Amino acid sequence: MEPVHGNLIYEGKAKKIYACNKFDQVLVNFKDDATAFNAKKKSQLDGKGFLNCQISAYIFELLESKGIETHYICLASDRWMYAHKVNVIPLEIVLRNTAYGSLCRESHIKPGTIIEPPLLDFYYKDDKLNDPFLSEERLKLFDLASHNQIVQIKSIAFEVNSILEEFFNEIDLKLVDFKLEMGLTASGNIVVADEISPDNCRIWDQRIDDIQDRILDKDRFRNDLGFVVESYEKILSRIQAVLPKPRYYK
Ligand code: TMP
Ligand code: ASP
Repeated sequence: MEPVHGNLIYEGKAKKIYACNKFDQVLVNFKDDATAFNAKKKSQLDGKGFLNCQISAYIFELLESKGIETHYICLASDRWMYAHKVNVIPLEIVLRNTAYGSLCRESHIKPGTIIEPPLLDFYYKDDKLNDPFLSEERLKLFDLASHNQIVQIKSIAFEVNSILEEFFNEIDLKLVDFKLEMGLTASGNIVVADEISPDNCRIWDQRIDDIQDRILDKDRFRNDLGFVVESYEKILSRIQAVLPKPRYYK
């Protein structure tokens, strides 16, 4: 069901952001649209929006219980959530525990190699520029964040990684890598924003040995492996088995 919402503020590839009856909050609607390779590949996957909304709610509440601030407030309905309005910092913050994807394409590191300590990469969140890789110096030059903010962003990102890696491990899932976005609240706090779902995390099933069958994330869509929604459902059901149900707006 659609909650009562105001004007559309922003439409991204996977979500729409609407105004709501509180000036400092927004309603986030998770779409069924699937895109990859900067939207060169597009499809509709029935149920993906619901699954990513639910998975994100569970993960945001897990992070909150461990003292990490996020933009999430509560679920509004199955594929809608209330969030604090934040100014999203145009950075894709990628944490890598196991080598895969672009790291392997751009180096001689073999897929599956453990990255210890985990690697944090910054990318400029700008579709027109194709999300280029950033050094910390470029990040400062482009005025995307101050030195202090970079220190905070890195500290939050590594802490989120430790919490999520340990959590997924408990449910026999391997967190290979993931992308975070962060935003600034009205009071200037940096909080985790966007979503945390199989659209922006690589997650492998530790109960499966086959290197293709074990993939449960958006790589199934990127690489035409099929069973995308079924794989996201598997992640949600493993999470539901161990975490309390997320809050709904009352
Ligand atoms: P990469 O291997 O393509 O650099 O991706 C690293 C992680 O970031 C992976 O979990 C997928 C995620 N990601 C996004 O969420 N959005 C993107 O636009 C890209 C390129 C990657
Ligand atoms: N998020 C990007 C897109 O939607 C790229 C990707 O996830 O592969 O096009």
